[in-house]
Amino acid sequence: MPSRTLTVPDEARAACEAARSLGRRVGFVPTMGALHAGHLALVDESKRRADFVVASIFVNPTQFGPNEDLSRYPRDLAGDVEKLSRADVDLVFAPDPSAMYPAGDDTRVRVGALAAPLEGACRPGHFDGVATVVAKLFGIVGPCVAVFGRKDYQQLLIVRRVVRDLFLAVDVVAHPIVRDPDGLAMSSRNVFLSPADRARALSIAQGLRSAAARFARGERRARELERSAREPLEAAGASIDYVEVRGAEDLSIVRDEIAAPAVLLVASRFGSTRLIDNVVLGADDV
Ligand code: PAJ
Repeated sequence: MPSRTLTVPDEARAACEAARSLGRRVGFVPTMGALHAGHLALVDESKRRADFVVASIFVNPTQFGPNEDLSRYPRDLAGDVEKLSRADVDLVFAPDPSAMYPAGDDTRVRVGALAAPLEGACRPGHFDGVATVVAKLFGIVGPCVAVFGRKDYQQLLIVRRVVRDLFLAVDVVAHPIVRDPDGLAMSSRNVFLSPADRARALSIAQGLRSAAARFARGERRARELERSAREPLEAAGASIDYVEVRGAEDLSIVRDEIAAPAVLLVASRFGSTRLIDNVVLGADDV
């Protein structure tokens, strides 16, 4: 059966309220569309944890910088609704920017230190846009549980911080990174990679894999693990934004030896396409 699709926030809120009043547990997967198997894995996880599943499709303008790819971000609403229908999603919420940011809209959610490094440093204002739209979407949907991918690791920590600091009644569940068979982390932006750039982009997973393997063999020096992740990127001629080991809970800087759970995060550009990836050391496979 095709999923019900709504574009008006008040109507989506009423549909979610009706489900809750019937005693249904509302699960939520926010997305920007151009859906791939990674997004659909989040939907499946949400279905395991809730009995009324909502997915949103909204390319959120406030999380794109002036020189970023908002206008060329891939869009395929009809294809996305079909995928979500096949995945048995109960409600698709696909608002217009003017519905989410009506005239006079004047509130922003800003996360502090957690939003400063890494993506926050490369993309000023990005996480204000993410935190704001996620708070708006949570306000509309009122989910009991929301599923986010570890692909956007810093975003996941930021959403958790928003939920904690604003006392929101949402259980935020993390889903592991879904990869293509050759290791490339799935991303809506992968469609922009030329065949040659896609081959070069495999150096990201290759570097993370060799760093994770060294960690498994006992290497604890953060700079050494960063070197393992960086070398294949340099050999592939990538333009590197960062390769950093950080504390897995709070993205704190790891000065020397890793002594607490840590994550190795990478952002690099291949041609005009910017990709991010990461591995939680000792916990994830790449
Ligand atoms: P988007 O990039 O569409 O991603 C939506 C969700 O899918 C995020 O939680 C993201 O981490 C997850 N995801 C994407 N690729 C994945 C993969 N390969 N494996 C596992 N999970 C993956 O992230 C956003 O949209 C936006 O910032 C949003 C949260 C919707 C706010 O606008």
